[in-house]
Amino acid sequence: MTGATFMQLPRYTLGDWDNKAAVRTRRDHYRLPDDLEQQLSIRDWFPPAFIPYVEHPLVHRAGRAVAQRLAANHLVYFLDYTTLLEHRVVNRSVETIVHGELAVPIPGQMKTAALQLYTDEGYHALFSNEVAEQIAALYGIEDRQPPRRINRLLAMIEATSPTDRPLAWFLLGFVSETIIARELLAVTRHTLVCTVYRMLRNHLEDEARHSRYFSQVFQYLWSALDATQRDLAAGMLLRIIGLYFEPDEPWLLRSLASAGFEEQSSRQIIFALLQPGAHAQRVRSGAVSTFTAMRNASLFDNDHYRMVFTQAGFIDG
Ligand SMILES: [Fe+2]
Ligand SMILES: [Fe+2]
Repeated sequence: MTGATFMQLPRYTLGDWDNKAAVRTRRDHYRLPDDLEQQLSIRDWFPPAFIPYVEHPLVHRAGRAVAQRLAANHLVYFLDYTTLLEHRVVNRSVETIVHGELAVPIPGQMKTAALQLYTDEGYHALFSNEVAEQIAALYGIEDRQPPRRINRLLAMIEATSPTDRPLAWFLLGFVSETIIARELLAVTRHTLVCTVYRMLRNHLEDEARHSRYFSQVFQYLWSALDATQRDLAAGMLLRIIGLYFEPDEPWLLRSLASAGFEEQSSRQIIFALLQPGAHAQRVRSGAVSTFTAMRNASLFDNDHYRMVFTQAGFIDG
């Protein structure tokens, strides 16, 4: 959908949800194709460019089958992450809008869109899990522990005082929903196994609407916060945005071990990924829409907030 089309849609809605949402219109199946083996000779499970460690010389030397196994691990991990994120984080965030937990009045159409979005995420979790189960069975992938990021996001809520939790939940959803569309868009530019491509593409089309909606709700909420609440929200945003781009080192080591790498080689393979500069770089390129929404809400007109985000290396001062 183009920016121009977005502009004509009423605010705080998901547009023509009945005729556009995957859960309403996409009756595709998500079974792996019969000619999977043939497809894998020219297609990938996941784009190598989005698994930076796959480009490492040690992985290259190990051959295509090993790289493919790492990509399968990565995809299952990404889909398990998505399934948990949709239920435990995004939909919990959406509940704060639907059930009046935030300290602002919620217009009728904003509430309706939130209820629709909740339904979308339930469907995304369903098809993400369906594909993950098939790939896990195919390769015998048994390492399905919750991704560390989910635990960190939930721990952040635990560490927040009960009064401030609705705001923290909302912001967790806002950041996630403004980064996922960009991530899916980038991923679906590559030639992937057809089922995976179809699933990610259907997900992406919904997320483009979600990103726009959450950006608008964020601006609405921000304009209603007082100075103390803004300080709190800005601090939370800095922390939350950082969390969404942290690597999961223990999982990376386990994934490489399952593909036959010794620990020393694995550490060499992921070394670049763990550098602090690499983290800030991932934030800068991945959270573009989040920062745009914050800028549109005039958040960065405040010198202090701008300075804090600049010092973290997240934006240009
Ligand atoms: Fe989703
Ligand atoms: Fe979403």
